[in-house]
Amino acid sequence: MFPSLEINPQDLVVDKSDQELQEFFGQLRDYLEWSEEDAEQVVALGALVAHQFPAMVDDFYSEILRHAATRQVLKDEQQVVRLKQTLQLWLAQLFGGVYDLKYVKARWQVGRRHVLIGLDQTYATAALGRLRIRINAAASVAFETAPGHLSQALRSINKLMDLESAIINSAYQLSFARLIELSAKQQMQQSERLAAIGQMVTGLAHESRNALQRSHACLETLAMEIEDRPDAVRLVQRVQNALDHLHTLYEEVRNYAAPIKLDRQAVSIPKLIMRCWHQLEHKWKPVNSKLRFEMADGLPCDGQWDSLRMEQVLTNLFQNAIDASGDQGEVNCVVLPAPDIAELPPADGLPADRPPRIMIEISDSGPGISIHPPSKIFEPFFTTKTKGTGLGLAISRRAVQAHGGEIDVVPGSKATFRIVLPLVT
Ligand code: HEM
Repeated sequence: MFPSLEINPQDLVVDKSDQELQEFFGQLRDYLEWSEEDAEQVVALGALVAHQFPAMVDDFYSEILRHAATRQVLKDEQQVVRLKQTLQLWLAQLFGGVYDLKYVKARWQVGRRHVLIGLDQTYATAALGRLRIRINAAASVAFETAPGHLSQALRSINKLMDLESAIINSAYQLSFARLIELSAKQQMQQSERLAAIGQMVTGLAHESRNALQRSHACLETLAMEIEDRPDAVRLVQRVQNALDHLHTLYEEVRNYAAPIKLDRQAVSIPKLIMRCWHQLEHKWKPVNSKLRFEMADGLPCDGQWDSLRMEQVLTNLFQNAIDASGDQGEVNCVVLPAPDIAELPPADGLPADRPPRIMIEISDSGPGISIHPPSKIFEPFFTTKTKGTGLGLAISRRAVQAHGGEIDVVPGSKATFRIVLPLVT
């Protein structure tokens, strides 16, 4: 949910003292008219339905694994095994009859933990609902011959599950609010840091420009002086290239660190893509790689984007694709509706509150990306090439994010970059 944040779980501890938690629990119990008799009813029911706990836990996790939104927060099979044991324990405590401070704290921890793993709270509520249905069904079977006892037992267990839900929800909300606060703070710190780096580098680039120009002038004079010595002239050219590289580096760091102000205008997507490709053809005549460009039928053709920024992004991706494909390689560029558009039945149109988004995928015929995790390549100064500053993809990501979009590597054997971008703000 917040992939770029590094949050220490302790930072999410919301200041609720033991006394406050106890008071909070007391209020909830009053509200729901929870009594000692309810506790006894729950314990008695627990003895009758405990043999169903393993089936309930299996059902709980098979449902979680069936849905992408819940499955994606899980790491691996082992974690599921561990979580199943945790849920068994949770059920045992639910029917355990001891509803003290330790109990409330454990429930509070569940809400907090779910924020950290990026679980959408809706699913925890739905999962609790599903568990409630299973428990109610097990109770109906257990009290088949004693309907009077059944209604009392159901009332008590449902009160307790409402208490659970209230505690988990409350912890979730507070921790989520704290996470938003921390995220805003971290983003602020990061932009302040970038602004400071930007200022410093701008100053440095400015001061160095004169020195670089002087060096270039001296080297040109030197090259003329020694023109009869080709080996020495080649060395001078290498120094000149190194100075050019230094200049490019300054410019790119400045570009990366400077705040982005978008100059949005209507941009024709197919024209933009072809312009970027032709620019590279013009620069590297002849480009041996071929571009195969496709755009899905019926897609809007224009985006409200900063044309120069998006040109920079696409040119950078095309350049990388050409480098990776080698001689006679093929570069594919496909423009598709972003998944949330594609999922909608055409007759429904788009909901007013969701801006339409498109997806641009660029893939090459090279050997693929062997970096783990592939997202590392968006980190500043990460490079596998001998040339370049290692800032190209980091700058591209910033530009795409400034447009409200995202750029990622698509998992698979080929190198495929995917940009998902709103067409308008
Ligand atoms: C009835 C609703 C749920 C209950 C009672 C529940 C219970 C728990 C408990 C007791 C923990 C351990 C908390 C700790 O002490 O750190 C936990 C953690 C976790 N829960 Fe849930 N959960 C529920 C819903 C879900 C759902 C729908 C998912 C979806 C995938 C989920 C995924 C996880 C994960 C991934 C962890 C972290 C486990 C770890 O640290 O490895 N939970 N949950």
